[in-house]
Amino acid sequence: MKRVTDYPAWQQLVKHCDATSAMSMRDLFIAEPDRFDSLSVRVDDLLFDYSKNRIDRQGISLLTALARDADVEARRDAMFRGEAINITEQRAALHTALRRPASDMLVVDGRDIVKDIIQVRHQMDSFSTRLFNGDYKGHTGKHVTDVVNIGIGGSDLGPAMVCEALSPYRDTGINVHFVSNIDPADLLRTLANLDAEHTLFIIASKSFTTLETLANAHAARRWFLDNGGTTSGASKHFVAVSGNPAKVAEFGIVPENHFILWDFVGGRYSLWSAIGLPIVIAVGMQRFEALLDGAYRMDQHFLSAPITDNMPMLLALAGIYNRNFLGYRGQVITPYDHNLGRFAEHIQQLDMESNGKSVDVNGRRIDDYDTGPILLGGTGTNAQHSYFQILHQGSDVIPVDFLIAANSHYPDTNRHRELMANCLAQSEALMTGRNVDETRQAMGDHGIELNDDASINHRVFDGNRPSNTLAYRRLDPHTLGMLIALYEHKVFVEGVIWNINSFDQFGVELGKELAGKINTDLDEQKSAGVESTRTKAYDASTRGLIDHLRLLKD
Ligand code: F6P
Repeated sequence: MKRVTDYPAWQQLVKHCDATSAMSMRDLFIAEPDRFDSLSVRVDDLLFDYSKNRIDRQGISLLTALARDADVEARRDAMFRGEAINITEQRAALHTALRRPASDMLVVDGRDIVKDIIQVRHQMDSFSTRLFNGDYKGHTGKHVTDVVNIGIGGSDLGPAMVCEALSPYRDTGINVHFVSNIDPADLLRTLANLDAEHTLFIIASKSFTTLETLANAHAARRWFLDNGGTTSGASKHFVAVSGNPAKVAEFGIVPENHFILWDFVGGRYSLWSAIGLPIVIAVGMQRFEALLDGAYRMDQHFLSAPITDNMPMLLALAGIYNRNFLGYRGQVITPYDHNLGRFAEHIQQLDMESNGKSVDVNGRRIDDYDTGPILLGGTGTNAQHSYFQILHQGSDVIPVDFLIAANSHYPDTNRHRELMANCLAQSEALMTGRNVDETRQAMGDHGIELNDDASINHRVFDGNRPSNTLAYRRLDPHTLGMLIALYEHKVFVEGVIWNINSFDQFGVELGKELAGKINTDLDEQKSAGVESTRTKAYDASTRGLIDHLRLLKD
């Protein structure tokens, strides 16, 4: 049975890391004058600079050997071919098929799935065109001005992130909103300013059984009926994206308003499918296709570039080195691009739901190496005034991915230049730090004489903290597609090296089961009284919290 830690490259990396850990990145930049050129890679306008990592050339070649030991290229090809690589659920993971051009063909189980995909894309196109030109009408003959997507996880985060990222392209005249949380605040705040006659709901759920989505969908239907809607009229105001036709029909959605989703598309990889319908409605079909094209471009690069020049592989290998050899537990993503405000949140689900596992593909508990890191993020420069303190001086080293565009969509070039300067300054500061002498000197330059060690220590930066930078021309749909696909493939490569199945998510189940039981007990308040929970097999903390909340309930 394959053991990751037995790979020759893994063992050499352990030794190499020990031997070189005292080396600072400052030293590496001096020792390797062409370090930036050799440790950066481009795909069209997108540049990936990974030179500010604590790895030397030999380390990089050992990491590429590790990717070979783990058979990453063969696994990648199996994924693109449509093999059932999601072994626990016996499914393919074919999100890459969703961005293939119409001229392509991919036969899986005797069926050309590209044909099916293109057919749904046509359905999205004609539906959105009818919305844009007002041909699609609500039950009173009014056109649609507002679309509310009700979904959660992958049925929300991806399209919500893309709609925000492409804000400068939102010119279709239709407002798109997202509701995900079962907290009534989410739906009610969204509906507060909407007119039921002009509102269309997309119920987005691959399974069509997700508690939050169904509860919100039913609440939305009640709101529609309470605001002049009729049961028969509801079919004009509710459409669905789902892989479960029976449940969709049971909800009362007509077949022509059901956009199908296939088993081979995982929730967190689904924004390229009809789950992307709100994107099409917000920015139009052409921009959605440009997004798909960008992802396809990254797919082709991932498939064809040698490991040493392969952007997703190198991003993943830098992550592996930080996690497994340097022992860093976290990873931060900081786009210096305000419209990427929800990028980190999307990548959180992508990365942590895929690689937050402690059992390998053979069912063996993993106790000899670490898997997915804790991923956090938020945009710069705001982040500099919140979590950056810990990145510079905290006791944990947390590597950062910076994202920055050369051009803004907005007219003020001075502020955008400040934004770029801040991004580059942060990665430089994390790498170089500031030692005692430099701190004394810097303070002196500001007219502050610091003579005691304590005052200097507070102002010293250790530096030698890793970061990657992704730099691109402008955040347009094509570039955004490339960036998302880049992270999808990064997560895949890391999963292959860790020998885990990145495509299931059993870890989200237990809490759901327990919530059902607790929900019943919280509801018993009216009839059975406070004592009833004492008979249930809860731990003392859960029991105490249930009782306290029941006592406080109005
Ligand atoms: O959080 C678990 C999960 O299954 C995610 O993987 C998925 O994206 C989300 O719930 C929503 O699932 P569905 O689209 O079936 O409602």
